[in-house]
Amino acid sequence: MSVLVTGGTGYIGSHTVVELINAGYEVVIVDNYINSKPEVLDAIQTITGKKPRFYNLDVIDKVGLKKVFQENKIDQVIHFAGLKAVGESVSKPLEYYRNNIDSTLSLLEVMKEFSVKNLVFSSSATVYGEENDFPYVETMRLGTPTSPYGKTKLFIEMILKDVNHANPELNVAVLRYFNPIGAHPSGLIGEDPQGLPNNLMPYITRVAAGKLDTLHVFGNDYPTQDGTCERDYIHVVDLALGHLAALKKLESHPGFVVYNLGTGKGISVLELIHDFEDVNHLKLNYVIDKRRPGDLPAYWADASKAKRELNWETKLTAKDACRDSWNWEKHNSGK
Ligand code: NAD
Ligand code: UD1
Repeated sequence: MSVLVTGGTGYIGSHTVVELINAGYEVVIVDNYINSKPEVLDAIQTITGKKPRFYNLDVIDKVGLKKVFQENKIDQVIHFAGLKAVGESVSKPLEYYRNNIDSTLSLLEVMKEFSVKNLVFSSSATVYGEENDFPYVETMRLGTPTSPYGKTKLFIEMILKDVNHANPELNVAVLRYFNPIGAHPSGLIGEDPQGLPNNLMPYITRVAAGKLDTLHVFGNDYPTQDGTCERDYIHVVDLALGHLAALKKLESHPGFVVYNLGTGKGISVLELIHDFEDVNHLKLNYVIDKRRPGDLPAYWADASKAKRELNWETKLTAKDACRDSWNWEKHNSGK
């Protein structure tokens, strides 16, 4: 079985490629390195003993994409490629709409031309918007994501639903990720944001490494157990394995299906900080700061549908993720 992975040298894509190769899939990657580096391919080879076939290509480029489908027998596709920085999307909405939506349209058109019928798409918990109570359940009416990034996810979900409606032969698994953290236990691949990290875990590891001075905890006056925001942090290796479970599901021709991929429980910013300190035997320099605009107090997944229908659930803990993120930061991040 061969799988085309768009965005396969990125953070979640690279971890998924490792698990796909380990499970015996043939993998073809398309990525234009807009947010990743060629070194990731060497790391994948070191971990798995196999270097996947790679095309340095913008997924928007239909001519290039057709060549990939001509040169390889593609059975299934996982579509990770996309821009993902929430803050940047507010200042560059056109880039986000162009990149994320056009790449999906090109991919769908080429898949149709080559009669490839199974697609897994990276969506986000952000599609539940501010309107819904947590835990989020797949059957909820979707909300209005506040950022252009989040809106691209909502629009793409709607596009995929329409395309499936017109062509029920196309099977689509939309996966709504909660907060991915952690890294491969080898320390050879992980999340490597450029510049100042926006997300909590890369900020923590950079403070621990002395690359940044102080971690700012955004607000401790929320209506939560300890006053800091609560999120559903999922280890990226568990998340990667969720994609393999979704590919298996698509083999049963389910049509359009949606799954939350999360742990099903929330933990607070302070809990994550303390987990990181405990497991790595160090102290983090942090201060309590004011709230970050746009943050919701708490949300997590109802992850029972994925367990029931995909036979998938998370196995790794936040502590595992703290250990693996730190291992990655110490050995390879930024190289
Ligand atoms: P990432 O930036 O590490 O990986 C995305 C990859 O896609 C990068 O390697 C980038 O170079 C590539 N890419 C982007 N646009 C491209 C294009 N037009 N053509 C070819 N390659 C292109 O991000 P990630 O964290 O691995 O996220 C993967 C997917 O999951 C994204 O769609 C993201 O929106 C979604 N997602 C991520 C998170 C998260 O917290 N990381 C949460 C929810 C959803
Ligand atoms: C954000 C995005 C979400 C995206 C996800 C990727 C928003 C509103 N949401 O989620 O769409 O899918 O990233 O993982 O931007 N925090 C600090 N100090 C920091 C950084 C973060 O206290 O330096 C806190 C935040 O206030 C939040 C929690 O840590 O409560 C997690 O933040 P973050 O990692 O940025 O993820 P989200 O905001 O949940």
